[in-house]
Amino acid sequence: MRKSGKAQDITRAQRRIEELREDIRHHDNLYHVLDQPSIADFEYDHLYQELVELERTYPELVTPDSPTQRVAGQPRAGFVEVEHQAPMLSLDSSDAEEQVRQFDTRLRAQLDGSAPDYVVEPKLDGLSIELVYEDGRLVCAATRGNGRVGEDVTPNVRTIGSVPLKLRGKSTAVPRRLSVRGEAVMLLDEFEQLNARLTREDKPAFANPRNAAAGALRQLDPNVTAKRRLVLYAYEVMLLEGAVLGAQSEALVALRGWGFKVNDLIETGIQIDAAIEFHHDLESRRDDLDYEIDGVVIKLDDLAARERLGATAHHPRGAFAYKFQPRREVSEIVDIVVQVGRTGKLTPIAMLRPVDIGGVTVARASLHNGEEVARKDIRVRDKVRVQRAGDVIPYVLERVDEKGKRRRAKFKMPRECPSCGTQIISRLPLDFCPNTLACPAQLKGRIKHFASRNGLDIRGLGERTVEQLLELGLVKSVADILSLTAEDLLPLEGFAELSAKNLVEAIGRSSRVELARFLYALGIPEVGAQTARDLAQHFGTLDSLLSATEAELEGVAGIGPIIALAAHDFLHSSNTIESIEALKQRGLQLIEAEARAGDLPLDGVTFVFTGSLESMARAAAEERVRALGGHTGSSVSSNTDFVVAGSKAGSKYDQAVQLEITVLSEAEFLAMLAESTS
Ligand code: IVH
Repeated sequence: MRKSGKAQDITRAQRRIEELREDIRHHDNLYHVLDQPSIADFEYDHLYQELVELERTYPELVTPDSPTQRVAGQPRAGFVEVEHQAPMLSLDSSDAEEQVRQFDTRLRAQLDGSAPDYVVEPKLDGLSIELVYEDGRLVCAATRGNGRVGEDVTPNVRTIGSVPLKLRGKSTAVPRRLSVRGEAVMLLDEFEQLNARLTREDKPAFANPRNAAAGALRQLDPNVTAKRRLVLYAYEVMLLEGAVLGAQSEALVALRGWGFKVNDLIETGIQIDAAIEFHHDLESRRDDLDYEIDGVVIKLDDLAARERLGATAHHPRGAFAYKFQPRREVSEIVDIVVQVGRTGKLTPIAMLRPVDIGGVTVARASLHNGEEVARKDIRVRDKVRVQRAGDVIPYVLERVDEKGKRRRAKFKMPRECPSCGTQIISRLPLDFCPNTLACPAQLKGRIKHFASRNGLDIRGLGERTVEQLLELGLVKSVADILSLTAEDLLPLEGFAELSAKNLVEAIGRSSRVELARFLYALGIPEVGAQTARDLAQHFGTLDSLLSATEAELEGVAGIGPIIALAAHDFLHSSNTIESIEALKQRGLQLIEAEARAGDLPLDGVTFVFTGSLESMARAAAEERVRALGGHTGSSVSSNTDFVVAGSKAGSKYDQAVQLEITVLSEAEFLAMLAESTS
């Protein structure tokens, strides 16, 4: 018997719906998990809309694993507790290499005595989540809670694009039951945008991406989670029914096959020395990643052996977290002073009881601006948590509450410039001293920036020297620095004939300078070292940059309309023009590329350095490469052309070999430079 017209329609719709779902899942995976979208957004939207329409017409065909069901449902009244499929333990951890070696020695003794193979993974600083799948469908997602029982956050987790709602069964069969552990993280740019928005809306910002991720997941309304783009990296199979995995390295392959996002920095099949090296390497470039990590996790690859070793009450014996040096410590605010920077911006600075943070003594930390101080309610004598991250100036993260303590009065930003007394103007949340031309603090800031490492790199022109030069009236503009003589310097504290002569010589050397450094030194708003290099490379000469329109500036990679406008205004202000003229008159010589972008010998060639070079510092080598038009990267990828391996080359060397990238010795690299400059 023939089906009725309606039944036929439904069958056809069903077929198309399934086709669309497969297609959309495929593109979701490419986009969210592999970061390799293969179709344009509008094409994707097209497919998605077609599915939405069909499901609207045939609501009986909607299933929970349909890609349309990532869209959040109704807010709930409260969280429900769920028991985990297996205990979610935490890891034994330390930031001392010795402890890591002891972990390895213990394992050797308990296993067969040979050096065990490890899998080493970045320790992601987010929120640990359990995902449970039955017959390939996501049925539950829970927070870690106390390790045995957590909170059911399924509707929220369903909105995370990198969490498969339905497992893929192409490379590894879909198991009957699967429990996966992973980390939900908020990417740093998302975190910054979120905080900027919260601040604009007068709401409290999050202290770090981890708290922001937790805040996003612990929402009763999944619509809020959906808006805070989170990423989930899967790293452990907690329970598996209907299949067996012999090794962690296999588990990671299986997880990828099922459609989970697995971190791409993970290394497998290495022994303890390489694992430690991996830790050091990753620690040195943790600031280059777009998510936060706080160490590496070293896991015994052999899962049967891990099982045999078992766990203490708190942590498994077969894995260890080798943490990075802490970057946050608690200290007390002794005083709050207000600094005026080179752009006139007022920054409240917390003077701290000195504290060691990750090997650096920190005695001052930025409080950003008056609004931040008010929002965090920070006062003199408060205990605060201070954060130091890479090159960033240490800053006060949050106040550490001390119950019952009597506190000082609220902090107020000054209404007059602490340096020149001019009435402050507010462009909330910032305050400025408008006395651009004559405020000594601003001039000091400009000179410091001018002479800094990324600028003219004048060695020996420290802060105290600049202050004295200003106090004695020896310097009234940035250009005056270039005409200083040894006699000028002699009366300054800390100077004798030799040191005065040395500084004058250093100034002389620095006044012949590459365009990129000069552009940085000028202090163009929003233009840091990288953008300065991009500008120099793009325009080749100062004149060509000065004659560029706003639109032409925007044509440079990394420059958006806001920077373009600010840079254009700055470059055409009478102040800047006069200052450049004065610098040239006092002997500034620009080294400008004759060749425009596209003509440089190393144009488009990317180098990554590992280990230490004999003949020059790594930074200097990188600069040489860039001066010749090349790029430098901190991690090896398929885009890398050459890896230069110095002594004690690290895991990047192995990565290069794996990816079949040419590895150059230092001598070969130097030869290549010589050839490129000849
Ligand atoms: S494995 C039994 N792997 O670090 C093994 N944990 O206490 C359990 N973490 O809260 C954890 N990245 O959330 C593992 N690649 C990784 C990890 C990782 C981050 C977190 C985890 C846990 C903490 C360790």
